[in-house]
Amino acid sequence: MKQNETLEDGHGRRFYYLRLSVTDVCNFRCDYCLPDGYQATRKAPDLSVAEAGTVMRAFAMLGTRKVRLSGGEPSLRKDLPELIQAASATPGIQRVAVTSNGYRLPSVIDTWHRSGLHQLNISIDSLDNAEFAHITGHDCLPKIRTGIDRALELGIQTKVNAVLLSDGAQARLHQFLDWLKTTPVTLRFIELMQTGDNRDYFASNHVRGSDIEQQLIESGWQLLPRALDAGPAREYVHPDYAGRIGLITPYSKDFCNSCNRLRISAQGKLHLCLFSDAGLDLRETIRTGDADALAEKVRALIGNKEVSHYLQQGNTGGTQNLSIIGG
Ligand code: 5AD
Ligand code: SF4
Repeated sequence: MKQNETLEDGHGRRFYYLRLSVTDVCNFRCDYCLPDGYQATRKAPDLSVAEAGTVMRAFAMLGTRKVRLSGGEPSLRKDLPELIQAASATPGIQRVAVTSNGYRLPSVIDTWHRSGLHQLNISIDSLDNAEFAHITGHDCLPKIRTGIDRALELGIQTKVNAVLLSDGAQARLHQFLDWLKTTPVTLRFIELMQTGDNRDYFASNHVRGSDIEQQLIESGWQLLPRALDAGPAREYVHPDYAGRIGLITPYSKDFCNSCNRLRISAQGKLHLCLFSDAGLDLRETIRTGDADALAEKVRALIGNKEVSHYLQQGNTGGTQNLSIIGG
């Protein structure tokens, strides 16, 4: 295997970004994801730090430069700092990110920083404490915000994900805008996606991002040119605001053209798309610790990546909810 040969699928897309789920367990009960809380199932143990290290080495050989550790809620793993360290110690991996619900952020962020974290994504769907508690089942927004302030102090690039929900959308937008005046985070509005579990919730809460986008443009927000290695967000800036706003609109035409990510579940399955029918099991090869062999396997499988999800047609693939492989 030649080093640094960037993976490419049959549609000319390259994958220098790996999302590695380290657990599917989550302690939150977000209405659109796990409204009844996480339901334990019998399954193999999550990838160990050594196994995760093998996965990251294999992907780095294939040209992956950025790793995001996700979940479920990754901070439910006591050894998350070791996982961050393993990522940042992998030759070729230049950026390490974590996606978290942030519920323990103030007490863990310094350790994550020391372990080599560059970038943090936190989910906040509302800046109203009561509404936040209602959506997630946890009344802990002030604590999360303290953690975000600390992350910014440490120089960690911080993004906040907010799922767009129809009811009360304008009030939430105004609260977020107030916050962004002085807070240098990138807030990304994500259109609610339909999954196997949330059909009814989706039907009554999905709202298109285009109305908010239009409103932002009319009030002076300007679209940034898209960086080559950028994800699917369209990012806006405004001279009066310290923060930025991104829009992630999976229902828009051509959304999948810019896809540059692959996903590995905490059970060691490769997911070519968030909405693929099933993961491709790599655990046996991962367990051997042979990163070269794993890289060969992944390379052979990439040829099968579909050109698009089929969400517009209501096809949610095998994805029951996003806690399984992270967003
Ligand atoms: N649609 C859109 N976003 C979702 N997330 C979880 N489930 C969904 C869904 N059905 C978001 C979370 C988090 C990110 C990882 O994915 O709110 O911000
Ligand atoms: Fe909420 Fe994320 Fe947990 Fe799902 S995995 S319940 S979206 S915090």
